[in-house]
Amino acid sequence: MTERSADELNDLARERFGPRADGYRASALHAAGPDLELLVELAAAGPGVRVLDVATGGGHVALALARTGADVTACDLTPEMLDAAGLMLAEHGCQAAFVVAEASALPFADESFDVVTCRIAAHHFPDAQGFFTEVARVLVPGGRLGFQDQTLPPQPTSAVLVDAFERMRDPSHHQAFSVDGWTTLIERAGLEVEHSELIDKRHEFAEWAARQDCDDACVERLHELMADAPGGMREWLEPEYDGPGLVAFRNRHLVVLARKPE
Ligand SMILES: C[S@@+](CC[C@H](N)C(=O)[O-])C[C@H]1O[C@@H](n2cnc3c(N)ncnc32)[C@H](O)[C@@H]1O
Repeated sequence: MTERSADELNDLARERFGPRADGYRASALHAAGPDLELLVELAAAGPGVRVLDVATGGGHVALALARTGADVTACDLTPEMLDAAGLMLAEHGCQAAFVVAEASALPFADESFDVVTCRIAAHHFPDAQGFFTEVARVLVPGGRLGFQDQTLPPQPTSAVLVDAFERMRDPSHHQAFSVDGWTTLIERAGLEVEHSELIDKRHEFAEWAARQDCDDACVERLHELMADAPGGMREWLEPEYDGPGLVAFRNRHLVVLARKPE
């Protein structure tokens, strides 16, 4: 992997997500699913609960939490994403505060939230450990983190290739971790994992590539990478073919509830 500075990665994320904000807001895969339901259930928000949704994207977690009556703040690096999320919440008659923020430098006071959520985003963060440390800082003692992201297979070679596959489609993909890797980062920040569950997400390949505007050459390279995949990567992504065409694959998302000790 080419080393990229935090500023380069963040610029890339803004460049990739800014023009595609409406696509993420409209994405059925982001808008619903058992993963979103589980995350919202684990967050256990309700009237008066102060919630921060980090890297809110199209705002799907923020909307689900606002519907519980929680007092929601949604932040993201990309201003256009916050605009799209704000529009969606307003369309559903819900409210939240929207703040531009980088995940490892959250502009909020210590112990100012009861719940922090972050879904399908931390693989973009240049400093995932810094993000979890910030989560621990802004949570009240006893506060909860509801976290979800992609995981990598346990075999190192396959893990590198799965990450490369994701990065080929979206260069702002920085790094995902295995279940153990994510768990270690969360625990190093001083949070205690109370629940951890893997949920499969099936991706229609064409739709997945189109959401990041992959051109024909990029689609071709993705096909090649999958065709050359070693066994561990294939077992992990379970590619589905129609003749020679890659139709779908799945990735496995880790959903975690962690708590800041009292
Ligand atoms: C796939 S979207 C998030 C999806 C959303 N959480 C959901 O559940 O639908 C990824 C988001 O991460 C944001 N992002 C990327 N890098 C970031 C960073 N370093 N700090 C904060 N947000 C970041 C992007 O702007 C983008 O909106």
